[in-house]
Amino acid sequence: MRNDIVDYILMKPPNNPFVLNTYHGKKYFCDREDDLDKLQNHIDNERNVVLYAWRRLGKSALIQRFFEELEDTGKYETLYVDFLATHTIEDAVRTITTVIYDKYGKTKTGFSAAMQKLLSMMGATISFDPYSGAPELSLGLRQPGTEEHSLDVLGEFLRERKKKIVITIDEFQQVAHYEQDNAEAIFRSWTQKFPDIRFIFSGSHRTMMVEMFADNSRPFYQSAQLMSLLPIPLEKYIPFIQGHFKAKGKTISNEQIEMIYTWARGQTYTIQLVCNYLYAQYTQVKDEHIQKIYQDILEQQQGIFANFSKMLTRTQWNVFKAIAKEEPLYNPLSKDFIQKHRLGAASTVNTALKSLQKSELVVVDDGAYLVHEVLLARWMAKL
Ligand SMILES: Nc1ncnc2c1ncn2[C@@H]1O[C@H](COP(=O)(O)OP(=O)(O)OP(=O)(O)O)[C@@H](O)[C@H]1O
Ligand SMILES: [Mg+2]
Repeated sequence: MRNDIVDYILMKPPNNPFVLNTYHGKKYFCDREDDLDKLQNHIDNERNVVLYAWRRLGKSALIQRFFEELEDTGKYETLYVDFLATHTIEDAVRTITTVIYDKYGKTKTGFSAAMQKLLSMMGATISFDPYSGAPELSLGLRQPGTEEHSLDVLGEFLRERKKKIVITIDEFQQVAHYEQDNAEAIFRSWTQKFPDIRFIFSGSHRTMMVEMFADNSRPFYQSAQLMSLLPIPLEKYIPFIQGHFKAKGKTISNEQIEMIYTWARGQTYTIQLVCNYLYAQYTQVKDEHIQKIYQDILEQQQGIFANFSKMLTRTQWNVFKAIAKEEPLYNPLSKDFIQKHRLGAASTVNTALKSLQKSELVVVDDGAYLVHEVLLARWMAKL
């Protein structure tokens, strides 16, 4: 069984059922049944998938949940790779190798022979931190082309496994920022060389993820099925939240949950966060409690939020703030909007807007311009 799945089983039940980091097992995971079916269907039919969504909606948690299910069937082996901290192909190779080592490298007596062979074929060595025992991978001398060779060796190793392999590469948009211009092409040819391996590409920069797979000049063009993740429906969230409250003799009404859902714009993380605080502090939730929690949460983030004004130009900051205040804003270049917030010339607003959109600080959803980070939007709206 996969090590991290063993971890779930061994995981102590959380004191607070509204978990804020990663996946803690089915009991603390709300709905997503249709999305799980869709993923299953893609994998059953040998399709690679691109999972994209606005931030913090639950992409990574959904994949963990799905992988747990796949592993339970006994037919699949799953590998979860996170590219967030990678900046070069070498980093990427090291990350993939470490995940493979974590899954297959350890045996009862120490270090698996297959893994030893794999590392030596890659010219890599592994050492262990004398204090923590954590493995540290050294890839040895790198020359042009060695990354492709290493990826091939890793692919061969996985192809030899008896069970079907499904790999998720999370934060895959990082590849577009690598030093090497041909990084996307290298990964694309890797996936083509190993057609038996299924890939799920996921990322937190929605626009970039879609561009990588939908732009016909990019290597990954039309190489995977695009799957967009939407907010969990309110009617699914109500029984989930109330169930956890009830189990502890606590209450929260449908209307209150709807209020939180709207304030959070349906964003899973924000809903979880508000419920986590309410659950910890109150037995019978009253509307004023909810207001108090909003305020506490925003106050806590104040230090981080205040930095945004330093990161942006004056116009960008003013446009950004005005968008938060007007949510949902449909026409950011209208005279009314520009005059009301005294933003200056429409062309300047336009330039500022483009740059805010490029970094996904501002996103357009169903025609509405929104400050992407929900909590930041709620904080700025009050300025
Ligand atoms: N279905 C769910 N039920 C309950 N909590 C969930 C669910 N999905 C996600 N969460 C929680 O919501 C938060 C955000 O989830 P996650 O990190 O998976 O989102 P993400 O889309 O990968 O975010 P990012 O854009 O930062 O990569 C986490 O705290 C996670 O535990
Ligand atoms: Mg994520």
